[in-house]
Amino acid sequence: MRGVVLAGGAGSRLRPITFSMSKQLVPVANKPILFYGLSDLADAGIEEVGIIISPETGDEIRRAVGKGDRFGLKRVEFIVQDRPLGLAHALNMAMPFVDGDDCLMYLGDNLIKRGVADTVADFKVHRPNAQILLAEVPNPSEFGVAELNQDGVVVRLVEKPKVPPSNLALVGCYLFDAGVQKAIDSIKPSGRGELEITDAIQWLIDDGQEVRASMITGWWKDTGKKEDLLHASELVLSDLSEKIRGEVIDTEIRGAVTVGVGSRVVDSQIIGPVVIGDNVEIVRSKLGPNTTIGHGSHIHDAAIEDSLLMDGAEVSNWKLRFSLMGANTRLTGTPAPGFVELTVGERSEIFGT
Ligand code: TTP
Repeated sequence: MRGVVLAGGAGSRLRPITFSMSKQLVPVANKPILFYGLSDLADAGIEEVGIIISPETGDEIRRAVGKGDRFGLKRVEFIVQDRPLGLAHALNMAMPFVDGDDCLMYLGDNLIKRGVADTVADFKVHRPNAQILLAEVPNPSEFGVAELNQDGVVVRLVEKPKVPPSNLALVGCYLFDAGVQKAIDSIKPSGRGELEITDAIQWLIDDGQEVRASMITGWWKDTGKKEDLLHASELVLSDLSEKIRGEVIDTEIRGAVTVGVGSRVVDSQIIGPVVIGDNVEIVRSKLGPNTTIGHGSHIHDAAIEDSLLMDGAEVSNWKLRFSLMGANTRLTGTPAPGFVELTVGERSEIFGT
């Protein structure tokens, strides 16, 4: 089986962060989201992976992933998709790479707690033509949605339906045998101009092929929006274990906290789970819970909770919650009193009055 990881797309829902970086490289607990998926594929025994990239952010992804050996992959091929014309279009671009083998298509901005090994094993035992994973969600209109009959067999799939037939969303991991090519060739772009993977799978169902569905165990998160990204971060951090490699002076630490190499935490209060990267300075501040501070950041006299700050953040005096700050952002001056919720793009500066 070969892997096809989708790391192109427009990322419009995560602007301004995605004006300057690929959303799949946004770090969760200081590790790019994409890296979790690549390791999960390798853990499931998928060692050959084609990665779909866009012309805008492809080079950044090539550099970050490299040869893929550190994830346990033996072969990585990068496939440029000129425009984000849909998940089925992206899969079609990868079909020469898949070369008639079975494939697992994985959305590079998704996180699946228990990985994909069980799903791959299940596919190999039952050998359906396609296999999908489903999760109950409160907001099905934002996802591909499956309708099952009384026997639990998938009868209909719809992409982002206004009136959802169920609350069962398609998780970003799909398995196919080589027959998916015919399905992709047979469908037309949807109303929003994309070749939809839901339409390709619907074609397989209508053609009488077996589409197996199972419920996901453990959590799954699509990180395409800020709220979901922060929630994904909270879920990843909930498994954190303590590791203090830097210096902690006159500071109260509660719960799981990691402090990276070369970092100093002074006169502060840290309420886990909190990840503090390498070469970070935290002074007279209160951090956490559910907070990540990127490498090389400087935080002084601040309070930060439920937030994700990428590398090189500088924050003095501000109180942040539910905030997402791109790399090398600065918050200085005298801010308005109380906590603020910010989304700040890379290399931005905000001065309080
Ligand atoms: P989406 O999040 O559905 O699409 P998007 O990245 O264009 O985001 P937005 O709606 O905010 O503009 O895509 C899921 C994953 O698939 C994500 O990792 C991007 C990737 N993708 C491609 O590689 N090619 C595509 O044509 C599309 C639509 C998505």
